[in-house]
Amino acid sequence: MVSQRVVATFHLPREWLGALPDLADFVEWGSGEPAPRDWLLKEVGEADGLLCTVTDRVDEEILRAARRLRVISTYSVGYDHIDVGAARARGIRVGYTPDVLTDATADLAFALMLAVSRRVVEGDRLIRSGGWRIPWSATFMLGSEVHGRTIGIIGMGRIGRAIARRAAGFDMKILYNSRTPKPDVAAEYAPLDALLPRSDFVVLAVDLNPSTYHMVDYGFLRRMKRSAYLVNVSRGKVIVERDLIRALEEGIIAGAALDVFEDEPIGADHPLARMNNVVLTPHIGSATVETRRRMAEVAVENLLRGLR
Ligand code: DGY
Repeated sequence: MVSQRVVATFHLPREWLGALPDLADFVEWGSGEPAPRDWLLKEVGEADGLLCTVTDRVDEEILRAARRLRVISTYSVGYDHIDVGAARARGIRVGYTPDVLTDATADLAFALMLAVSRRVVEGDRLIRSGGWRIPWSATFMLGSEVHGRTIGIIGMGRIGRAIARRAAGFDMKILYNSRTPKPDVAAEYAPLDALLPRSDFVVLAVDLNPSTYHMVDYGFLRRMKRSAYLVNVSRGKVIVERDLIRALEEGIIAGAALDVFEDEPIGADHPLARMNNVVLTPHIGSATVETRRRMAEVAVENLLRGLR
């Protein structure tokens, strides 16, 4: 297989790559920054396999440049950054890494729910800035509870189901919305009009596609409870961010906890970063050592199968 060329747009620890670097002529973009477009356009020209990730836009232009490409393996569960239709039309196989990151992402959804409603990050910031002066007060830093409340999960795929399992452990009432009702899920299916006004936490676990792009706009947020929190572990472009900022400024919802953003990365000057009732994490849903290693195994296996 050594005559086959594999291009990786990012660095993975050598021991996570298994036999790949020995089996193929392996080229990787080694810096921590996303691979530049020009580099990818050039390198993909002679590649048989492409190992890419969410920061690479694999579109018509890249595919046109990729004269020999037979397989694209993305190191992610989401594949909205790949023009899958155009790849298929050229007979290029596309692999992704579902299942292995489900639990890590659901864990993060819960971490975000707890952090925003129990003001965990705000409390940490208060102490570090020297602002904790009174040892204890009956009305100091009151948040709202998670256990026993109602969660509205939007998207009942693998990650939505894993969030529902955790919510059951917190004795939550579980509502969900998805394209079709899932009779095997122990939760109540609700149309958005019914889910939004009843949920204390609205958690987004959808994939990004034309029907979910910008689904959370001002009208959506206005249908939520004023005391509710919005949590997003899916894709940033599911939310119209300026509408969310407006809703938070106007007190239309109580807060938000977000792992993903419309344009990543965001900086300290972003309006969301100035809000106390917002918890932000830098797209780390799957970022555990165990999960990222398993993702590597799946991505390498997908790539090798495609080459074979
Ligand atoms: C994914 O897998 O799609 C995440 O967003 C990155 O791990």
